[in-house]
Amino acid sequence: MEIRTEKPEDVESVRHLNIAAFGRENEANLVDRLRGIASTLSLVAVQADRIVGHIFFSPVVVAGKCSKNLSILGLAPVAVLPNYQRQGIGTLLIREGLEECRRLGFQAVVVLGNPDFYLRFGFIPASRNSLKCEYDVPDEAFMVLELESGALQDCSGTVKYRSEFNLCE
Ligand SMILES: CC(C)(COP(=O)(O)OP(=O)(O)OC[C@H]1O[C@@H](n2cnc3c(N)ncnc32)[C@H](O)[C@@H]1OP(=O)(O)O)[C@@H](O)C(=O)NCCC(=O)NCCS
Repeated sequence: MEIRTEKPEDVESVRHLNIAAFGRENEANLVDRLRGIASTLSLVAVQADRIVGHIFFSPVVVAGKCSKNLSILGLAPVAVLPNYQRQGIGTLLIREGLEECRRLGFQAVVVLGNPDFYLRFGFIPASRNSLKCEYDVPDEAFMVLELESGALQDCSGTVKYRSEFNLCE
């Protein structure tokens, strides 16, 4: 299993993978809209020359009180081909993806999803860092992970995803 940065020739496979995993086009369309924007990160999991998993990160901003230089990413989406799920590929993509974000100097990552899945990676409810999601979601579903210890200490406000997230088709 290799986790590597997406290449231009992977784009079509990544699109198909997201459609297969989510059973709809929304997430694939979102990735296609965000790809190429500064500070995005797209990684794939490759097994026997086949792309079997994908993870994407894009920049978010905090509307509120926060250091201007703070660089935070939103993790979304992450997907594994249906026949390859529950074999640890999603876990590997998230762990290596977060490590790559840290290596690139990003200070925190937010995610909106199932806490049962994400808490194991060190995410905590974002409300504990006085951050809330711009969308109306249950408190525990919006989580944050500091990649740089203390980075969010003096930060509070509403986390805003890229406007591409608001186009939901
Ligand atoms: C979520 C997803 C990326 C996880 O990838 P994966 O390779 O199957 O995950 P792993 O094998 O590393 O499993 C990690 C844990 O997640 C759990 N898990 C995996 N898929 C799950 C699902 N659909 N619902 C609930 N739990 C799930 C596993 O049980 C496992 O927990 P355990 O170790 O306690 O048993 C994958 O199931 C997927 O693509 N789902 C469809 C798309 C999606 O919902 N993406 C997430 C939202 S952006």
